[in-house]
Amino acid sequence: TTPFRIAMAGLGTVGTGVIRLINENAAMIADRAGRPLEIVAVSARDRNRDRGVDLSDFAWCDDARALAGTPDADCVIELIGGSDGPALELARDSLNAGKSFVTANKAMIAHHGMELAELAENASVSLKYEAAVAGGIPVIKGLREGAAANRIDRVYGILNGTCNYILSTMEKHGSDFEEVLKKAQELGYAEADPGFDIDGVDAAHKLAILAALSFGKALDFGGVETAGIRSIMAADIGQAKALGYRIRLLGMARLNDGKLFQRVNPYLVPESHPLAHIDGSTNAVVAEGNFSGRLMFQGAGAGDGPTASAVVADLIDIARGDSGSVFAMPVQTMARADRAESGNR
Ligand code: HSE
Repeated sequence: TTPFRIAMAGLGTVGTGVIRLINENAAMIADRAGRPLEIVAVSARDRNRDRGVDLSDFAWCDDARALAGTPDADCVIELIGGSDGPALELARDSLNAGKSFVTANKAMIAHHGMELAELAENASVSLKYEAAVAGGIPVIKGLREGAAANRIDRVYGILNGTCNYILSTMEKHGSDFEEVLKKAQELGYAEADPGFDIDGVDAAHKLAILAALSFGKALDFGGVETAGIRSIMAADIGQAKALGYRIRLLGMARLNDGKLFQRVNPYLVPESHPLAHIDGSTNAVVAEGNFSGRLMFQGAGAGDGPTASAVVADLIDIARGDSGSVFAMPVQTMARADRAESGNR
């Protein structure tokens, strides 16, 4: 059988996690995918850094963007990050070259997902981003396929592990914000710029993606009202607790008369709600379907193992030919629904 060949850009914790996962579970993955997965080329900033994995079997590319032209690759994985720049160029070039594309880049999908989805649909290739939202939790697949028959009324949840770690640690130990943020950075949950975490931007990227997927509306990152947790003091958390609430940074999206409401904000969550009991860097997404009822997806939202697990699940789908659609419906259909909607107002 012909292997499924992969070119990968970015060899940080997630990239090396993908290599380790593909090596360690190779035989099982080959059975599930119907053929072996084979990394043929890689690219990163520093070739000589010791990552604890053997890179000698892979072709090395100094310029990530050149990976789109890897002649024998079926698929390109992008783990560079950043909404624009080399990640976006690589995405466009790969899809235009007829290669499937897998990314963990929530910022890029939130900003450019519609354009990229259209490129993928026009080229009849896959664009997959399971790892972009809530790390190892299969929430994209869960909403797109598992809940496909439902009208989803509301989607919300804990979408940023760094903020949840900070809030739940302040709550438990009465510790100071700055001190806990430092700890979260040491643990490796935080973005390169932790402002993206604590100001709610990272959660907003993920929420915009979940909303587009759940409601079949065009992605609208600019439409997410966003506030973070900088101003929350240990005293606020204590007062909320005395009233029977926990403070959690939630992303919340719903349709109000066909109009998308999207907000990231610290919310008071009553102790009776399962989200009040999500502690540490765990993520949880709740979706309310009109036939399924309340669904809750919970698990690790960051880290090399969980994120690699989501990336490789996407690869297995594509390798076995189950590539599905980018969002819950083709981009043309989403655009048509949006036009009909604005015509009715
Ligand atoms: N900085 C993100 C978080 C990483 O804390 O959730 C995963 O997207």
